[in-house]
Amino acid sequence: MSDLYERLLKKEAKLAVIGLGYVGLPIALAFARRLKVVGFDINAKRVEMMRRGEDPSNELAPEEFKGRDIHFTAELDDLRDVEFYIVAVPTPIDQQNIPDLTPLLGATRTVGQVLKRNDHVVFESTVYPGCTEEDCVPLLESLSGLTYVKDFKVGYSPERINPGDKEHTLESIVKVTSGCDAESAELIARVYELVVKAGVHRASSIKVAEAAKIIENTQRDVNIALTNELSIIFNRMGINTYDVLEAAGTKWNFLRFQPGLVGGHCIGVDPYYLVYKAKELGYHAQIIDSGRFVNDSMGGYVAKQTVKKIIATGKNVSDARVLVMGATFKENVTDIRNSKVADVVRELKSFSVHVDVTDPHADPVEVEHEYGYTLVKEAKGPYDAIIVAVNHADYIGRDEAWFKQMLTDKGILVDLKGIYRKRVNGLAYWSL
Ligand SMILES: NC(=O)c1ccc[n+]([C@@H]2O[C@H](COP(=O)([O-])OP(=O)(O)OC[C@H]3O[C@@H](n4cnc5c(N)ncnc54)[C@H](O)[C@@H]3O)[C@@H](O)[C@H]2O)c1
Repeated sequence: MSDLYERLLKKEAKLAVIGLGYVGLPIALAFARRLKVVGFDINAKRVEMMRRGEDPSNELAPEEFKGRDIHFTAELDDLRDVEFYIVAVPTPIDQQNIPDLTPLLGATRTVGQVLKRNDHVVFESTVYPGCTEEDCVPLLESLSGLTYVKDFKVGYSPERINPGDKEHTLESIVKVTSGCDAESAELIARVYELVVKAGVHRASSIKVAEAAKIIENTQRDVNIALTNELSIIFNRMGINTYDVLEAAGTKWNFLRFQPGLVGGHCIGVDPYYLVYKAKELGYHAQIIDSGRFVNDSMGGYVAKQTVKKIIATGKNVSDARVLVMGATFKENVTDIRNSKVADVVRELKSFSVHVDVTDPHADPVEVEHEYGYTLVKEAKGPYDAIIVAVNHADYIGRDEAWFKQMLTDKGILVDLKGIYRKRVNGLAYWSL
């Protein structure tokens, strides 16, 4: 076996992480407890922040940077003496929901330019099965002039961290690892075992590891879509979905999914990677595609239901005021990427409703830049409807009296996550 593992431990060899976002930075800092690490990112502004001990993604405290052997850089030359590369750049979709591999291929090009004989490259970005070996490896070969497997090794190890979740961290969740041959698979697994206390699962191939990641999120997406569809049906039946879920949930094998907006850069995106690859192989992934359609339609559905209920109170819609609480893609995070709250706002505005949006975590400048609406600092009632779109901890404690003084007499509380279901009795109330 290559002596790279021992040399990494003795700090005679370096490990680099390319792309220091939500995924890359925690990994880089975890390895920097034991190994000599180079943290590389193309965004020089972010690199400057990390050098000062600040996490640009707002997840890690300054203490997490202390005592770590890491050099943050945006310079290609700093990668030349690295022997173990980890790539953790974004894998988004474009306007047509097609995988956009620009950052991944960009980072691969960076590594390809400095790749040497016996180096190891591990991809962590979420991709469709086959992407690592069919899209990235040929680029590494052509830029380095080296031959895959014979001269350099590649692996894939998907990331499972969950933004805002302090319980399921890099150290505490089993990590799937893989390599292009038995030797590299073992070395890569052992390297990750240095930081993942929960241990690693050695997948039988790179493609299996890629597929494992993509189905974790696809399974969630399809199940949430089913729950959303049930919610649309139950709404027509005049029964509350959360009441139904509570009752059905008393069965031992009932799966606990809730309705809601599916945003963010993982669950709402990854299934499109699988749909794309399936199509390339001549198969139309109907269930996955339908799930995406249902979940992507929920923002518009919520807005339309709210407007209907406002009209039913006798209010002229173009005079109506609605407060939307929450702008991030999920609770207790600052991340607004692919937040479906924007769909709710857009649809409401298309009915000429006046909309105020608040969020204790989102950056108003980012929201304005990304979605073209401003966040109000302090909501000023009375509103004809309040939509609680995100279950931020700050919102959970609000009581009926608070909503009452913010709403008009006939005002409606629209509670997407069913937080207040059993706590408000004297208000017009609707949840998914
Ligand atoms: N965020 C999560 O919770 C999460 C969880 C599991 C998997 N993933 C996957 O991990 C990957 C990374 O996601 P993320 O959320 O960390 O992204 P991110 O947007 O938070 O961070 C990406 C970082 O990569 C940098 N970058 C972009 N292009 C680059 C390039 N060519 N070279 C070097 N740096 C570059 C950016 O400047 C940024 O700092 C994605 O494939 C994502 O699907 C994310």
